[in-house]
Amino acid sequence: MSVEEQLHSRHIEALQVEERRFPPPPEFVAQANAKPEVYEEANGDYEAFWAARARELEWSKPFTRVLEWNEPFARWFADGELNISVNCLDRHVRAGRGERVAYYFEGEPGDRRAVTYNELLLEVCRFANALRAQGIKRGDRVAIYLPMIVELPVAMLACTRIGAAHSVIFGGFSPDAIVDRVTDSGCIALITADFGWRRGKTVPLKENCDAAMERMPDVKCCIVVKRTGDPVNMEPGRDVWWHELIEGQPATCEPEPVDAENLLFILYTSGTTAKPKGIKHTTGGYLTGAATTHKYVFDVKDDDVYWCTADIGWVTGHSYIVYGPLCNGTTGVLYEGTPDHPDKDRFWEIVERYKVTILYTAPTAIRTFMKWGTEYPGKHDLSSLRLLGSVGEPINPEAWMWYRDVIGGGRCPIVDTWWQTETGMIMITPLPGVTTTLPGSATQPFPGVFPDVVDEAGQTVPPGGGGYIVIRKPWPAMLRGIWGDDERYKETYWSKFPHMYLAGDGCRRDKDGNYWFMGRIDDVMNVSGHRISTTEVESALVSHPAVAEAAVVGRSDAMTGQAISAFVLLKGAQVGSEPLALELRAHVGVKLGKFTSPKYLTFTSELPKTRSGKIMRRLLRDISEGRTLGDTTTLADSSIVAELQSRAREEAQKEE
Ligand code: WTA
Repeated sequence: MSVEEQLHSRHIEALQVEERRFPPPPEFVAQANAKPEVYEEANGDYEAFWAARARELEWSKPFTRVLEWNEPFARWFADGELNISVNCLDRHVRAGRGERVAYYFEGEPGDRRAVTYNELLLEVCRFANALRAQGIKRGDRVAIYLPMIVELPVAMLACTRIGAAHSVIFGGFSPDAIVDRVTDSGCIALITADFGWRRGKTVPLKENCDAAMERMPDVKCCIVVKRTGDPVNMEPGRDVWWHELIEGQPATCEPEPVDAENLLFILYTSGTTAKPKGIKHTTGGYLTGAATTHKYVFDVKDDDVYWCTADIGWVTGHSYIVYGPLCNGTTGVLYEGTPDHPDKDRFWEIVERYKVTILYTAPTAIRTFMKWGTEYPGKHDLSSLRLLGSVGEPINPEAWMWYRDVIGGGRCPIVDTWWQTETGMIMITPLPGVTTTLPGSATQPFPGVFPDVVDEAGQTVPPGGGGYIVIRKPWPAMLRGIWGDDERYKETYWSKFPHMYLAGDGCRRDKDGNYWFMGRIDDVMNVSGHRISTTEVESALVSHPAVAEAAVVGRSDAMTGQAISAFVLLKGAQVGSEPLALELRAHVGVKLGKFTSPKYLTFTSELPKTRSGKIMRRLLRDISEGRTLGDTTTLADSSIVAELQSRAREEAQKEE
């Protein structure tokens, strides 16, 4: 099936013509950071555009070269030297802005703390000195597995201060997932907390690390933040408390200037195979991209209070909670918990308390708020808000309108921002104050970014048509490859179409050049904005002793975008049962992390395969979504389809 047909079969409703248009309000236009000329500037000479933005950073050694493009490997500003923590902290303090709040921290249990740039710099210096005292130095890699507490950005910035790279692992991941990531990236230290808070319960982070460290002999040191204070095992000689380590450390720490192309971080993301990809980002180009997009897309000003609700464990948190905002000297909110603890109005309570002006969240959250009802936002004064953002998956027009009307009071522009772990920065987005928005469209490329929509043959699709989204020119925050696997980097992103970066999303472009994203076109699911690979969940299922084979697909879900739907074939003569289904779901949770546990699980005696033995995922998706089936003539044994359909129907009835 062509990508065009796939998009048709999957997203018919999105093809309805969207007539609503929202031009930027004149008051917003008058004060906006981005003016229309920014597009002209970037279209004229895009390298000069990015170089001018890069020169707004502080370089200990200015660059003279802008882009070296040895396709598919980019080097930006490569002969320059800088330090990220200096750009994010010292620079603001020196400019007399040290008393500005960097983060309003709000713990899930309600503990609060305002951290100024002065304080953040002090904590980063102390901890950077502590890392050095542990023997960690430039070129090393450090894994970070922390909840959303102030120590998380502190740890990241401390790594940058001494030239070490970090690899942040989302706190929802299981010990196995920690082992895979830490081992692949060769991290020598692990930073964690005793426990995290989630919906009033504690999450055993240190215990997960203990289980992982049994299989990670190269991790010589584990630094533990005391968050809840509940007892944990501390291995002498290996485990040290954060607070003890920083005690007596000097309040200043000489920053290590690094090359612009020095590795800043590795962040793992799911691909189409079971092995996650360690996406590499470097220093100068990444910071330029993150800070520039943050400034223009979110229109941040000195008196703004900006809140991105993502987890720092994902790229959104890296670029738009830590690096972009701090580089711009922004005041932000850092919230540790979930939106429904202690009640479903927690987000709105936070907006009201800190008078949040800019809110950046995900469609899955917005749809959940819609389900909970307007009474929760209605309880709070949200009049401080002036701009709303969305990220993580396509936002359906209904959710967009609800966000605009109920949360934004009809007055706030919405920026629907399309980008990826790999792109490092927002790529397609409205610029508030410039762009006329349409519910459901991410609208236009960011200045200096050159995407296209192409068909199977790599030809530009005419206006109105759909196809693959690709990027035609390098951009400063682009990934520099996959850790340890240049071949996979080339194969995944650069082999389908020559000279184009393949993002893996389907997209349509309307006659006005607005982009409408349609979701992934590969075997990657997007559940609540989390990228999860079908094969990763399949191998987790198969690792259970009762399972012979498994096939996993993403099924459309009104709330989470997609939901994981698994088809399982048991070993021997075993028959499926409700308890076994529960056990298998839990097993996946243990293997990969609870957020990857299948919502639907159907037992079957056979999986639909092509004659060449390939699992027919499209067919499974159709079955799972209860659709009439397309062509099944390539099936090896078509009788199993009826069986699967009736099983899936039963399964769905149970769910309801
Ligand atoms: C999807 C998150 C439509 C897309 C920043 C992409 C989106 C994947 C949007 C990257 C959006 C993200 N509209 N789809 N505004 N934002 N996506 O790496 O499928 O976690 O490829 O980065 O999320 O997810 P990742």
